[in-house]
Amino acid sequence: MKPSPIIVALDFSTQEAALEFARRIPADKCRVKVGFELFVAAGPGLIEQLHKLGFEVFLDLKFHDIPNTVASVCRVAADLGVWMLNVHASGGRRMIVAAREALEQAAHRPHLIAVTVLTSMDATDLGEVGIARSPEQQVLHLASLASDAGADGVVCSAREAAALRQELGSDFLLVTPGIRPAGSSGSDDQRRVMTPAEAMTAGSDFLVIGRPITQAASPGDVINEVLVSL
Ligand code: C5P
Repeated sequence: MKPSPIIVALDFSTQEAALEFARRIPADKCRVKVGFELFVAAGPGLIEQLHKLGFEVFLDLKFHDIPNTVASVCRVAADLGVWMLNVHASGGRRMIVAAREALEQAAHRPHLIAVTVLTSMDATDLGEVGIARSPEQQVLHLASLASDAGADGVVCSAREAAALRQELGSDFLLVTPGIRPAGSSGSDDQRRVMTPAEAMTAGSDFLVIGRPITQAASPGDVINEVLVSL
């Protein structure tokens, strides 16, 4: 595993913009995350281009469907050579097991990460979909289920990292967004943020960082500063 924990969120709307940006950052000091908007706009060709530039890719498409369908898409994503992908833990044990089994057959098995409770959801939102637990309890519940079913880790807030680390042990991967380097001008629309060093101390393995890097005048300098701060 490369030593850098940084995953840069390539939240761009076109392949051109994403690749132009990717050429400005060092592939040996970070990985990149491709989400819905960019993947729907650019398609799998983009993943190939990012690989050519030397990046490992986290395909953040949060699969959630019947086990057979999720297994099929995981197989296709593994064939693309992605380094990490994710599924919704609320798809249930059989879906996560099916994803894991599909990935086991890949030449280079991608990390299988689960999404627990979307950070946009509060207790009221959970109640409306029939979940009486608090968001914190539901995160722990789904993370345990995901771990048990064979997921390698979860996406979580750095604030949840310590509890998850304690519950799920040292090998379980914690991938945390909501990161703002010390001295960043603002938190954008992120409500609760942590610095990279705080998040690592809390137990994160990987830091998903978007705008503080993508909107910087010198993105490579921000990456270096984050790495020095750890
Ligand atoms: O620009 P910023 O650093 O806020 O980007 C964070 C990235 O992490 C975005 O791609 C966002 O969709 C993603 N993310 C998040 N919060 C979550 C899950 C994913 O911000 N709970």
